[in-house]
Amino acid sequence: MVPSVHDRRESPTVDPTTHRKVETFLAEGMSGGTSPWQANPGGSIVDVFQKCKEFTRVSDAREAGYYLYYREIESPQDPVVTMNGQKVVMLGSMNYLGLTSHPKVKEAAIRATEKYGTGCAGSRLLNGTLDIHVHLEERLARFMNREAALVFSTGYGVNVGVLSCLLGRRDVALLDSMDHASILDGVRLSFAKQLKFRHNEPGDLEKKLGLIDPEKGILIAVEGVYSMEGDVAPLPEIVQLKKKYGARLFLDEAHSLGVFGEHGRGVAEHFGVEDEVDLVMGTFSKSLATVGGFIVGTDEVIDFIKHNARAQIFTAAIPPGAVAAVEAALDIIESEPERRDQLWENTEYMRVELEGLGFETCGSQSPIISLLVGEDGATLHMAKRLQEEGVFVNPVMTPAVPVGHSMIRTSYMATHTREQLDQALGALAKVGRELSII
Ligand SMILES: Cc1ncc(COP(=O)(O)O)c(C=O)c1O
Repeated sequence: MVPSVHDRRESPTVDPTTHRKVETFLAEGMSGGTSPWQANPGGSIVDVFQKCKEFTRVSDAREAGYYLYYREIESPQDPVVTMNGQKVVMLGSMNYLGLTSHPKVKEAAIRATEKYGTGCAGSRLLNGTLDIHVHLEERLARFMNREAALVFSTGYGVNVGVLSCLLGRRDVALLDSMDHASILDGVRLSFAKQLKFRHNEPGDLEKKLGLIDPEKGILIAVEGVYSMEGDVAPLPEIVQLKKKYGARLFLDEAHSLGVFGEHGRGVAEHFGVEDEVDLVMGTFSKSLATVGGFIVGTDEVIDFIKHNARAQIFTAAIPPGAVAAVEAALDIIESEPERRDQLWENTEYMRVELEGLGFETCGSQSPIISLLVGEDGATLHMAKRLQEEGVFVNPVMTPAVPVGHSMIRTSYMATHTREQLDQALGALAKVGRELSII
């Protein structure tokens, strides 16, 4: 649960000059406060590039030494990465099962690249479908216990493509208020009416469902695990409501695939409600060690998506190396469940230790553990200090979270050693105390 504004901590201590610089950086949002339709004094519309000139937020951040985006990593996404020649413990990766460097996964990608080359030079619909794409789709359908699967070039493309083609003007999309940008973008492109319910609150979902004209088609779209705070959707309650109101349910298992459920199929498997979820999407960019994504459902619905989703039809096919990497990652997920156990052991160790140190872990129930800081400036400062202390974390700030709820997001891998986790804990304790967060 997001702590309410009332439990917010006192703003941690940051020196005033730093605070001012950071505040300037954060004052106007990512667009620098510039409207894309800014009129000049004469009243006409200025050059479309004018906003770029006025976009000083990033240069302010660079100048203040607080630019923490597009950080360059010189090594694989392993538990320890190299940055500026220095070793840094990685607590900011979604490589949950640690498979991006697994020899079998790399070998499979190399072999496929040798056989098929580096790309497909076209869309799946026309020239870009390989036998290994079809094989992977059959495998994913079997793995997820569904009639059919369709592979996309990105997870983002799955949500945009599927939602925009399934929803029409006469439909209503009911979204959790913390749903990922790709879900929002898919709905926006669809012309459907959009209603949001309060994050993980089935009571509010029911209230919103009650407002919808029964003549409308309704799709509820939720995530298994939410990527900001690592909390889990109350799927059994959502499923009850979906049935009561005759809605369809779309579930994004990006962060739960390979992590939750006896076989790693995600949160729907964990709760035993897979049969009640109409469509499940997953990405290849987290537990499945590469890039791409998929949707699973019935033959009929997947065939419709295959021939109507513009994010599938009008983009190039996922490359052969990535397809083969997913197959190899699935082999490992199926044959080595102990990896998932190790991931949970690392996660539980860190949750207990972090809470013991006094961090507020924002209701995390997954390998994403976010630490409440409060203000954006202090959050940025904490992320920067942690990097100086040899730990990579992601600052999560407004508008991704409500004002006053900025957090340091940490995430864990099966391959983190206890020594690496302890090193990170030492740095988190030091910087947390320095900033009076603990
Ligand atoms: C919940 C969720 N859905 C979809 C996506 C998009 O997936 P990808 O990054 O693999 O394109 C992400 C990625 O960050 C995500 O967190």
